[in-house]
Amino acid sequence: MRIPEFALERFFARWEFAVRHLLCASDVEGWRMADLLALADDEGAALWRDLQLGYTEAPGHPLLRAEIATLYEAIEPDDVLVFAGAEEAIFCLSNVLLGPGDHAVVTWPGYQSLYEVGRAAGADVSLHELREADGWALDPGRLIEALRPETRLVVVNAPHNPTGMLPSSAEWAHLTAALATRGIHLLADEVYRFLELDPADRLTAGADAYGRGISLGVMSKSFAMAGLRIGWLATRDRELLLRCAAMKDYTTICSSAPAEILALIGLRARDVVLERSRRIVADNLVELDRFFAGHADRLSWIRPRGGSIGFPRLLDDEPIDDFLARLVEAEGVLLLPGSQFGFPGNHFRIGFGREDLPAALTGFERFLQRS
Ligand SMILES: Cc1ncc(COP(=O)(O)O)c(C=O)c1O
Repeated sequence: MRIPEFALERFFARWEFAVRHLLCASDVEGWRMADLLALADDEGAALWRDLQLGYTEAPGHPLLRAEIATLYEAIEPDDVLVFAGAEEAIFCLSNVLLGPGDHAVVTWPGYQSLYEVGRAAGADVSLHELREADGWALDPGRLIEALRPETRLVVVNAPHNPTGMLPSSAEWAHLTAALATRGIHLLADEVYRFLELDPADRLTAGADAYGRGISLGVMSKSFAMAGLRIGWLATRDRELLLRCAAMKDYTTICSSAPAEILALIGLRARDVVLERSRRIVADNLVELDRFFAGHADRLSWIRPRGGSIGFPRLLDDEPIDDFLARLVEAEGVLLLPGSQFGFPGNHFRIGFGREDLPAALTGFERFLQRS
């Protein structure tokens, strides 16, 4: 398989552990092991204590799949397949559903693997561009117009990386009904689900919307446990899940035994876990609103409707890559230029899930005042 480099991941490989402040991270500040284990119920604590480090069940630990199923309305434990992060799930699903002669539509700018793996598998992939002039809103009518007789998959990431886009329930219902009627699969990348700024805006999960809807979830973002590398697909299309399971035999075979138990503990304690994430994100957004209001002459800011990242724009003439290179050099603050998404203009990604955001903003502020 020939596949172009994953620009954003190569960028993080260069910078992530070399800077003082990662102001463009998409995850929420990770849990400490001791704090997570303190949340374990008796069964979870015993599973952790007595864990034997053999291979695990290929579809995922039965208790973990049962717990994941409770995140949805219409999903049974057997409708869940566990992966090493969302990334492996994207890889397997794209390879199973897409090949030469097939067509897919994917929201863009976006997480590169959501369209790149399908292209590498030989499919023709159309990008559904989100536009700043529309407040980054999804346009279901325009997306539906892009469908073809050979369209096999539509991928919508919401809350969206990097814009924070979240469709309204009416827009979502319009799109899912059109896909259901045409028998097209939907991959709903919901890795930022539960971080809606207004919980009333939470959408019907893809897996609950219709039989060919597929929800992609992960412990990395809202659940703030990226180091577990546990993600999942949930769908009522069991035949599709079986094909994904067969593909997984060529990637990881089965998940990490300790990670599965820790994910189970985290999901069983999700009220506490999500409460913490939502508090970090809400507190940081207050800081960001103040920051952008103070720099409206140089930075434009469309407030995200969900998730832990946004996609503001530098209004100066200096190219964004040069500006951000000077920022990281001067203050050790890392922001992600829109060029890493292949997106033209002076946008950059800012993340607000980390606890050092106020200190990072202080560095950014100093830099803006000097330059
Ligand atoms: C929209 C989206 N989908 C999938 C992923 C992959 O998640 P993970 O790294 O936990 O596998 C990411 C990670 O940034 C993402 O932003």
